[in-house]
Amino acid sequence: MLSMNATELALLKNLLESRQPNHGLPRPFYHDELLYRAEMEAIWRGGWLFAGHSCQIPKPGDYFLYDVAGDSVIVVRGDDGRVNALYNVCRHRGSVICEEAQGSVKRFVCPYHQWTYDRSGNLLLHHGMQDGLDNSELGLHRAHAREVEGMIFISLAEEPVDFDPVEATIAPEARPQGLARAKVAKIMDFDVASNWKLVWENNRECYHCNVNHPQYIKANFDHYNADDTIPRVAEKLKAVTTRLETKLAAQGMSLREETGMTPFPDPEHGLWYAANRTPLVEGYVSETLDGKQVAPLMGDYTDPDVGTLRIRSLPNFWIHASCDHSVTVRLTPHGLAHTDIRMIWLVDGKAEEGKDYDLDKMLPFWLMTAEQDWEICVNQQRGVSSHAYTPGPLSTYKEYNLDRFLRWYIQEMKAFIGK
Ligand code: FES
Ligand SMILES: [Fe+2]
Repeated sequence: MLSMNATELALLKNLLESRQPNHGLPRPFYHDELLYRAEMEAIWRGGWLFAGHSCQIPKPGDYFLYDVAGDSVIVVRGDDGRVNALYNVCRHRGSVICEEAQGSVKRFVCPYHQWTYDRSGNLLLHHGMQDGLDNSELGLHRAHAREVEGMIFISLAEEPVDFDPVEATIAPEARPQGLARAKVAKIMDFDVASNWKLVWENNRECYHCNVNHPQYIKANFDHYNADDTIPRVAEKLKAVTTRLETKLAAQGMSLREETGMTPFPDPEHGLWYAANRTPLVEGYVSETLDGKQVAPLMGDYTDPDVGTLRIRSLPNFWIHASCDHSVTVRLTPHGLAHTDIRMIWLVDGKAEEGKDYDLDKMLPFWLMTAEQDWEICVNQQRGVSSHAYTPGPLSTYKEYNLDRFLRWYIQEMKAFIGK
């Protein structure tokens, strides 16, 4: 239940009702502290969050921190090989236990009075305390964690929604990519001065792609929509899809053939996660500037010609994967007008930098696309901060996914407030 009084709840209800159908969100959605607090509880502390990749913590004791929604969580591989999500809060007097953002430990020792915990969060030692304390009652508090095909998700909810359907949907699509056998080629962190919803709104349409992403549109078809897919483009899409479909079917994979972006999310059916493969333009086997392969094939692939795999889950994760590398984006709100964005490039676990791949060739495609998007989001945040801002109509041809995202968001918020 929300920690809000009746007046605040009434204000929130009015705000959530204030969105006009098929329009953007009114100004308070990007400025209201009360709404932000509700979002943290409803969406960020209520849902499943992508935390990072399995290959960031391959061995027992390897960990990284994920600071989100006011909490610091230690994501650590336990001695049994399973991933634990432990709150980074000492059970003595509450100090954080881990100060380093990542590392490898035998035990977690609190820097304050040295209470010591094992890699599953059990309390092992506390010198200087009286007899009679029950250590089994004083282990680190735990969040929920699931590891799926090289992706780690956590939930801060006491009773999170069932994750099994998510796994059932994304695991079969993700498996050939071999993310669980990958390694990190590069991690980059950005502080983008934009509300997290604006970052998703931007991600959910390609209306802006023709002008803003000249490199992206050369490789992809999804910026063509029902209103502007000329017969020549439709023929190209059909030809590449037909050829690739046959090839992939022989390897147990399938392809999505539709004009425009894959419809996502699907609030009416409760779908906040999805995975699918789409074709690249003929001549492109990887999302690189010239379309050429830049690293050894990943996972089970035996041929570079596999299109791209795309996986996404709300509220904080998407991935674009080519035959040879994959690029992950993780969003974390950091106040109303800032989003911490982490990008992770993965390659096959055996690939060696300088010998098998070169970051100068691998990074530019998605780094350029991302930085172009971050600039757009910052500009939009500045604009929606103006008192003159009023939400305009959305294109039903090109912004249907943005509308789906906003419907999902309002639905989640209303459901939580109604609890
Ligand atoms: S606060 Fe951690 S040991 Fe005292
Ligand atoms: Fe974009």
